[in-house]
Amino acid sequence: MDTTLPPTIHESRLSLQRVLPRLRKSFPTEIEGAEWAVFEERLEQHFPVLFDLLWHVYGPSYDFFYHVEQILRTCAESWLERDTDLKSLDAIREGHPHWYQSNRVVGAMAYVDLFAGDLEGVRDKIGYLKELGITYLHLMPLFRSPDGDDDGGYAISSYREVDPELGTMDELRELSAELRQQGISLVLDFVFNHTSDEHEWAMKARAGDEEYEKFYWMYPDRTEPDAFERTLRPIFPDAHPGSFTYRTALGKWVWTTFNNFQWDLNYRNPDVFNAMAGEMLYLANAGVEMLRMDAVPFLWKEMGTNCENLEQAHMLIRAFNCVARIAAPALVFKSEAIVAPDEIKKYVSEDECHLSYNPPLMVQLWNSIASRNASLMLHSLPKRFELPHGCSWVNYLRCHDDIGWGFEDRDLWEIGIQPHDHRWFLNRFFTGEHDASFSRGRLFQHNPVTGDARICGTTASLCGLEKALYEGDEHQIEYAVRRILLLYGIIFTMGGIPLIYLGDEIGLANDYDFENDPEKAGDDRWLHRPPFDWDRAERRKEPETVEGKLFHGMLKLSQIRKNNQAFHETLTEFVDVGNHHVFGYFRVHDGQSILCLANFNDHPEEVSATRLRQLGLRKTFTDLVAGQSIVATEKLVLEPLQFMAIL
Ligand code: GLC
Repeated sequence: MDTTLPPTIHESRLSLQRVLPRLRKSFPTEIEGAEWAVFEERLEQHFPVLFDLLWHVYGPSYDFFYHVEQILRTCAESWLERDTDLKSLDAIREGHPHWYQSNRVVGAMAYVDLFAGDLEGVRDKIGYLKELGITYLHLMPLFRSPDGDDDGGYAISSYREVDPELGTMDELRELSAELRQQGISLVLDFVFNHTSDEHEWAMKARAGDEEYEKFYWMYPDRTEPDAFERTLRPIFPDAHPGSFTYRTALGKWVWTTFNNFQWDLNYRNPDVFNAMAGEMLYLANAGVEMLRMDAVPFLWKEMGTNCENLEQAHMLIRAFNCVARIAAPALVFKSEAIVAPDEIKKYVSEDECHLSYNPPLMVQLWNSIASRNASLMLHSLPKRFELPHGCSWVNYLRCHDDIGWGFEDRDLWEIGIQPHDHRWFLNRFFTGEHDASFSRGRLFQHNPVTGDARICGTTASLCGLEKALYEGDEHQIEYAVRRILLLYGIIFTMGGIPLIYLGDEIGLANDYDFENDPEKAGDDRWLHRPPFDWDRAERRKEPETVEGKLFHGMLKLSQIRKNNQAFHETLTEFVDVGNHHVFGYFRVHDGQSILCLANFNDHPEEVSATRLRQLGLRKTFTDLVAGQSIVATEKLVLEPLQFMAIL
């Protein structure tokens, strides 16, 4: 085979056939033939694509036999070790690959310790999750990580050991099995751009083991780091300016995109891909059904570029996807790409990430809350909302990270908004500096050089609940509750999976105590990661309390979603309802059509009957949220901050 040309399918099959018999022989003969046959069938289908991708990433220097045999061995071992119930899940998912597009899917996310103490505690809270209708649970990183600051667990020291304070690997397996039995899919992060500096590989590199030094990016002096940094943007400029860290004991500069204890893996080394594929399959075999692919834009580095969103990063994710299709087909990927809106979508396809966080929607929602206006959202969202077949957004308001104003600037210019000034308006608004503000957020990573800043704060605090409760202002408390339910109304009904940050359903405010914890002080994102308050959660049972109103409001949204086929994933059709305070869109599926309307103003707003007729609505219809039938002879009036789902 000419190794200067990409392999043909025939050639890759040939190389597979050369490796397979040797591989088969190396496993005990008692391995059932049927198991092996299924494996071979999947290889037939996915190996040529995997091989082609790796060839394109690594080029002719790729050691076809060594590396191919290594990755196939990892796949075979993982497949043969995979539990029977996970193999049954594989078969079910292969039969219904787009299960996540069902209107029955509702997601939630939480830190294990903050939500329930430990993994056993999470098991005890399954009833609560079920009460809220949750079918997908994202537990934040729970693996062994360095003591002290570990970037909220995103500095992983072992992908195969649970943080002892949270539990054990066996407990994780038991939890995932129990969740599955209860109809909840476990989602974990795959933090694959970097490891902690205490990971076994990093420790070996630190001890001078050349093989493992090559797992990371290390330089003896500043020549290359300086050259790279000419085109890189700093990610945490406050905590860690630049992208490299000098390790005195090593006498080397190490690439650290995020914090100085998070070492970027060097995917130019094919051993790194193979090793991480093994870690990924290990997680899949622990019962993880969905992986949140952390920090995808940064995987590949190339001198002279910003080292974000490069083509090789996409190819690597697709290669990981092939590995999953071969050895753990139930596994799906969700991309975490917090980059320019036009770049986000590029990670989404059935070959790459089936799902993606939807930062453009999140950012637009907060923008509309501050400006009480939906024009920018209506102007920009439709441009990029549609995803390839079989793929979905994960719609969220708040996650554990900050909010960055990731608009596409030209969208703002097109409707006469000055991007820089507008971003500053939003920062002033959400930090409570603006006169019209009700928010209690904080600036994050303010970069005085570029003027950029991001925002921290919980949904409740950003929506005005914290301030209103503090001031004892009943009217504002009511409006804050409406604001939260308005935003979640959109999250639950817009195409994609709704994702609740647990605590939002009972209105948890910012946690200022984090500053007294030396492990957290200094990273303002802990402001919006409050410990779950189970006493307040108890108050959900009293309908007139804030907790009761929020919890039941969200529950109702979740039920409306589950009871109406229109919310099963299909196209979302955005509509201009002729009032810039009101955002509207249709959901249509299986003969059912629902018009969702959201009034972002603190005053009543109208939609004319003529416009409603043009949109195909009759004079009388039902608002599923209020559970009322409405007769709109001349106009439809929406209450301040009202969300309607009109059937
Ligand atoms: C992702 C996480 C963030 C973390 C970073 C580095 O962006 O969401 O919390 O700091 O990756 O792992």
